Parts: sequence; C-alpha cells; structure tokens
Amino acid sequence: MKILILGDICGPSGIKIVKSKLQDLKKEKKIDFTIANGENAAENGKGITKKNFKELIDAGVDVITTGNHVWDQKEILEIIDKEKKLIRPANLLEGQPGNGYGIYKIKNKKIAVINLIGNVFMKKSQDLFSFTEKILKNIILKKDADFIVVDLHGEITSEKMALGHYLDGKVTSVVGTHTHVPTSDTKILKKGTAYQTDIGMCGDYDSVIGMNKENSIKKFKKDPTAKSHFPAKGKATISGVVVDADDNTGLANSINSIFFGNNFK
Ligand code: FE2
Repeated sequence: MKILILGDICGPSGIKIVKSKLQDLKKEKKIDFTIANGENAAENGKGITKKNFKELIDAGVDVITTGNHVWDQKEILEIIDKEKKLIRPANLLEGQPGNGYGIYKIKNKKIAVINLIGNVFMKKSQDLFSFTEKILKNIILKKDADFIVVDLHGEITSEKMALGHYLDGKVTSVVGTHTHVPTSDTKILKKGTAYQTDIGMCGDYDSVIGMNKENSIKKFKKDPTAKSHFPAKGKATISGVVVDADDNTGLANSINSIFFGNNFK
C-alpha cells in the first residue's frame, strides 16, 4: 500500500499546486491513498472553508487532517460532523465537534488515520501520550486496521520524536505537521514505523512559513503598520512523504520525502 501524506496546504498557492499536480504525482508514484493537512488552506491561511474542502477532495485527497486552526473558518462547523473525510485533532479538549480519527476502506484494506495535536507551545489540549494510548486500545494494527497513519500537529521537534518512538511498531507511520519547515530525518524506526519530524508545507516557500515575508518582518519589528498575517501568493512547492507500507505487517517498507515545485527560486 502506497500512502502519500502532504504537509500543510497553505493558502491559495498551496491549493493551486495541489489542484494542478496531485493527479500526476499520484500516477507517477502509484499512490493508493492520499492524506493532506488542510488547516491553513483558507484564503487568509487560517482554517479551511467548505469550498477548500471540496477543492482538495476533488483534486484527489482522500482524507484531510487539521490542527490548531481547525475552527478558524466557522462554516466548517456545518460539515465537520458529517464529512468523514475531514478530521480534527483527536485530543482537543472534550466536547468539541467532529472526529479525531477515521477508518477508511481502500483495495479491500482498512486504513486508520489519526490526527493529534501536541501539548507543548500549543493551545490547551488533552494529554498527547495517554490519549493516543487510549485510541490505540480501540485501533490495533492488523486487527482493527491494516494500516495506521498518524499526523501529529505540533510545534516542537522533541515531542514529535518522542511520540514516534512511543508508537514504533504499533502504527505504520508518524509524521509531524504545523511548523511548515520540512526536516531531513525521514526514516524507519527500529520496530518498523515510518517517521519524519515535520513534512513541511505545500505553499510558497519565498515567505515566512508560508506567510507574506515583508509583513512578517514588520510584525517581528512591532511596526504599527503590520497587518494580520496573510499567505505569500507566489508559486508553491509540494512537500510531503510517500510511505510504502507492507500489506502483511502493516509496517513501513520505506518512507521517501517529496519536495518539488518552485521552492527557493
Ligand atoms: Fe498549525
């Protein structure tokens, strides 16, 4: 089973490149199932609208994960409970709508996608490690799902790395999202779980993590003319990973990063 996981799709540039390149990429890499983090897909880079959701699904994404900006576009509340292809971090504080994971059927196999959010330097949420353990009591690899893919949306590298090792051998892959900066630590952990600390973003890299660079500098300089952050609108780069998962064990045979487009030109 070949699973493509795309990093945070950032603003109109990110949507545009996914719409124009995803089908070719899937064909070229023989992808069976595609997951993308869509929590920065909106015009202003915060949250995801109903239109964005449809655009990404129509472009060939099978499941959209989110993160700290999940509720920024209020209209998403209208669809989050019924759209099984849109999930939000499972360990948000109790009482919030939507689902934190889903199990999807593809080629007579079941693939579980779990969305989590880090505890460190993020908004208050339920304990990442104990909550994940609770979920994995209900979703056991090769019993309840043939593959289990985890998107940990978090700020710090060490928390993501610790969760990767914690889940090693219990899930197919653990990748991080949220920082928009791809790390070069793509690897298979000791017990067979594919891992990358952060898989980067699909957006304009001539920016400050996808946001307009001039405005971002003004914000850091406390310039009173600085506006709210807004996405850089130049040509985008696609960033993510392809996980080749073993149909028998549910663990990873390989993980390779993908990074192509207009990146630093
Ligand atoms: Fe985020």
